[in-house]
Amino acid sequence: MTELTLERVKEDLYSRKDPTLTPVDIEAKAPLVYDILELKRKLGVVVLGHNYMEPLVFNLSSRDEQGDSLGLSRFAATTGAEYIIFNGVRFMAETAKVLSPDKRVLISDKEAGCSLADEFDPAEIDRLRELHPGAPVMIYINSYAEAKARCDITCTSANSVDIARRMPGDEIIFVPDILFAANLEQELGGGKKVIYPGQDSGTRGAVCEVHEKFTLDDLLDVRKSFEMPRGHPNKLIYAHWECRPDVLREADFYGSTSQISKDIGQRVAAGTLERAFVASECELTSNLAQEFPGVQFNTACSVRCQWMAKMALEGILDILRRIDSGGDLSKYEIELEPEIMDRARLPIEKMLAMSS
Ligand code: 13P
Ligand code: SF4
Repeated sequence: MTELTLERVKEDLYSRKDPTLTPVDIEAKAPLVYDILELKRKLGVVVLGHNYMEPLVFNLSSRDEQGDSLGLSRFAATTGAEYIIFNGVRFMAETAKVLSPDKRVLISDKEAGCSLADEFDPAEIDRLRELHPGAPVMIYINSYAEAKARCDITCTSANSVDIARRMPGDEIIFVPDILFAANLEQELGGGKKVIYPGQDSGTRGAVCEVHEKFTLDDLLDVRKSFEMPRGHPNKLIYAHWECRPDVLREADFYGSTSQISKDIGQRVAAGTLERAFVASECELTSNLAQEFPGVQFNTACSVRCQWMAKMALEGILDILRRIDSGGDLSKYEIELEPEIMDRARLPIEKMLAMSS
């Protein structure tokens, strides 16, 4: 393994040709990146990075530490490391803690929320159960442990259709994302009834404040502006599952962040992808553009998740320095009631067992 030096870190950053990283940024940020990588190695800390991290933060994680919600949950369940730093949002770090209760799970900003998790009242689950007795409850992983603890199974955007089909009965309650629920219903094509908040039941769900921004008209405008006609074999529009149903119908491919990345990788390997637009958080596109420099990516740079954007080099370095010096980690540490963790673990483990 080549020795890590500040010069190597700078060389790596310059070689990325990232238009958002000027030499001024590189000179300012490289020492932070170097210190983080050095402490990460010395202390054997796992640094998980969600696909929405800005490239500088994303690249603090090795390839197997990067991923979508499902991949990161799997990693968190199996790692032997004592400390896990989660570069993502709070509900993701909570999931890691629930799966690894003996590990110390840390996030550089505990206020990193998510509109889906924050705007959903777990009591709605009990109301829906009362209205539809016997129907199993599937909860999107974008939720807090307290809500998961009341449900039968979790899912992510990578496995929801498969899991819904395999759950018993001919109906399923899905919370909290109402756009996701409508997409699931569309995908199941009447094979199973999806019951979700709203729908005249007096219950309230939530939407992703980022993905709801994309409209069908936006996608049609992208097709026109960037000459990406529907069905073109080399120019594709991708959309995340949390977008509106008509956006998914218009997209050439939809899925989780890692499924989008995988499809792009396969087309690049086959030499067929020229241009792509990804209707999702814009740093996903930044990371894809670095990985696949031969593809022309068009980005909606204004579509940034304010919560994911809270992960910053300074906070991550502070965590590592505190671990190194035996300092106080309470500002960063995820702590949950053991009873909530025990109850929330069941639906997550059930999902992992059904999607391996
Ligand atoms: P993925 O599971 O596809 O990574 O999505 C997580 C998320 O928060 C999307 O907004
Ligand atoms: Fe939550 Fe949306 Fe941000 Fe994902 S992009 S963390 S769903 S607010």
